[in-house]
Amino acid sequence: MRIEKVNSEQQMGEVAAELFKSQLSAKPGSVLGLATGTTPISLYDALAGMCAKNEIDFSAANTVNLDEYCGLAPSHPQSYRYFMDKYLFDRINIKKENTHLLNGLAEDAAAECARYDALIGSLGEVDLQLLGIGPNGHIGFNEPASTFSRATQKVALTQSTIDANSRLFSEGESVPGYALTMGIKTIMLAAKIVLVAGRDKEDIVNTAINGDIDPMIPASVLQLHRDVTIVMCV
Ligand code: PGA
Repeated sequence: MRIEKVNSEQQMGEVAAELFKSQLSAKPGSVLGLATGTTPISLYDALAGMCAKNEIDFSAANTVNLDEYCGLAPSHPQSYRYFMDKYLFDRINIKKENTHLLNGLAEDAAAECARYDALIGSLGEVDLQLLGIGPNGHIGFNEPASTFSRATQKVALTQSTIDANSRLFSEGESVPGYALTMGIKTIMLAAKIVLVAGRDKEDIVNTAINGDIDPMIPASVLQLHRDVTIVMCV
């Protein structure tokens, strides 16, 4: 595991963006696993900047996102499809049809999760997976006590995640209680993983990487992965 300590969010984004740039120069048709949340925004800004200068080329890439809220349409400003279009896809030269997210409106969640796992398999698995980390150590929406062996699944969000994410919803609007998420098994199959973490996540990152490997701290499973880079603000 490599730990890159940086002292600003902008630097965090730039360091992580270099990893994406190297990945796409080595393999233009890479499958990139992407994440939402506040933390990856500086990375997405850096990637958009590189793309505007023709320093990175997404034209052959595919992307798969970690998760999506249940019950939110892609046009909902808090849906992760909306987020990804706004912060990344509409700013880079990726083909929209190559950008994949779980469908939060699917009536049959199990079938939607199976479709997503099959899709990732058909793309040839994820080459570089981006992760954030929740204050409770979640990765994707794999909340504490998630088993490490599950693939994509429907999950109930914990109250702490609902509380943490409510800052992004308007007043009177409630955070969905359920989401579809890549499972930890899916995440661990990625060839490389990069986790970005702001200053507010320093304690949970330290617990995850230095403590026991424990399903109560889902990110601790990353200790078992052969190629993880953590870019963290200190
Ligand atoms: P954040 O979310 O980047 O908005 O803090 C990270 C996460 O919950 O995975």
